[in-house]
Amino acid sequence: MPSFTYYAPTKVVFGRDAENDTGKLVREFGGKNVLVIFGGESAKKSGLLDRISYCLSAEGIRFTQIGGVVPNPRLSKVYECIDVCREENIDFILSVGGGSVIDTAKATAYGVPYAGDVWDFYCGKAVPKKAMPMGCVLTIAAAGSEMSNSSVITNEDGWLKRGYKNDLSRQRFAVMNPELTYTLPPAQTANGIIDIMMHTMERYFSRERDLFVTDEIAEGLLRSVMRSAFTLKYEPANYDARASLMWASSLSHNGLTGCGLCEDWATHQIEHELSGMFDCAHAPGLSAVWGSWARYVMDADYSRFAQFARQVMEVGGENDDREAAELGIAAFEDFCRSIDMPTNIRELGYKLTDSQIDELAEKCTFFGTRTVGAFKKLNCDDIAAIYRAARG
Ligand code: NZQ
Ligand code: ZN
Repeated sequence: MPSFTYYAPTKVVFGRDAENDTGKLVREFGGKNVLVIFGGESAKKSGLLDRISYCLSAEGIRFTQIGGVVPNPRLSKVYECIDVCREENIDFILSVGGGSVIDTAKATAYGVPYAGDVWDFYCGKAVPKKAMPMGCVLTIAAAGSEMSNSSVITNEDGWLKRGYKNDLSRQRFAVMNPELTYTLPPAQTANGIIDIMMHTMERYFSRERDLFVTDEIAEGLLRSVMRSAFTLKYEPANYDARASLMWASSLSHNGLTGCGLCEDWATHQIEHELSGMFDCAHAPGLSAVWGSWARYVMDADYSRFAQFARQVMEVGGENDDREAAELGIAAFEDFCRSIDMPTNIRELGYKLTDSQIDELAEKCTFFGTRTVGAFKKLNCDDIAAIYRAARG
């Protein structure tokens, strides 16, 4: 088995009414003057924000609220949060929301102690030495930011969506009450399902071998997510299915399903350019391009795709590896359709022109300065070919 480091320091408090512990958790991790960041209306409407305010006050913790984080969170909001933290002498950041809110908090946490522009970290010009402490109350099972070391921010100047990874951004705690996700519209639940699966699949499609434990964890997680998806289609308030999905969201992106593997992440990179250009949601962008990516790279190792087909999608048992690989990809696309997720860019709602494809491929390779992916390394021409195949 290849060597690896596994680091997942976030304290997870999981279950019904877990959010009522938020004040105590903030106190445990030293917060006395907190910035509470949230998104649009959902946390206000559900009364969650009021409950959080109540339990912070009950612990004698001061707080300032800032809302309005949008999906594909913007750099301008990060600047606003940094200013508030400095003006109010904030010592702890609490996110109430999903990946967009938590990622805004992470960027803010890097930015406050830094004298330069926080975007420097996202464009590779600098590396943060410090970050403010953070915790979160998760309201959607999807991005996995609650336990990941990454964050993704969109700079409106050029509409560049860029991710940055650093362990300084790990949440001190993550509060996860599956009941908080009952209010999600079906489309957001489906988005979460795809993003969770992709976070494991980006790790699973690796050329490393002999990682039986990691493989079994990944395959079991993927099967369990599909089972929850099926249940939630008919019973959106099924606690066990919501709980299973929420825990899978964190485990999919806290490194567990990638221990020892050389991870790929091409699908994410290809998608980020789409949501940068069109401001579409992240997960439909992933499902729109994954099949085209998979068919483009599968010849690098049919056996891995065949394993996915047989162990996860439960097809291809009677076929050779190449046929099984194709069946597995088609079965995953069928699964996406079954939860109303697109399998090409036309279904995502966009008619890509040739010049848009060139622009997307250029941006994805940082203007020809990098390749993308590890299962098969992809250059600008490869990526343009994948966008063309995904055009629909
Ligand atoms: O803004 P509100 O009103 O809260 O509505 C949100 C938003 O419209 C809604 N929502 C969240 N919880 C809800 C709810 N609606 C009803 N009831 C609830 N309980 O859901 C919508 C989407 O929220 P968002 O935070 O954008 O979702 P998600 O967690 O999918 O995050 C997506 C962002 O995370 C990035 C994506 O690129 C995207 O920008 N990612 C972050 C990663 C990371 N930090 O590790 C990894 C991922 O690969 C991903 O790239
Ligand atoms: Zn993702």
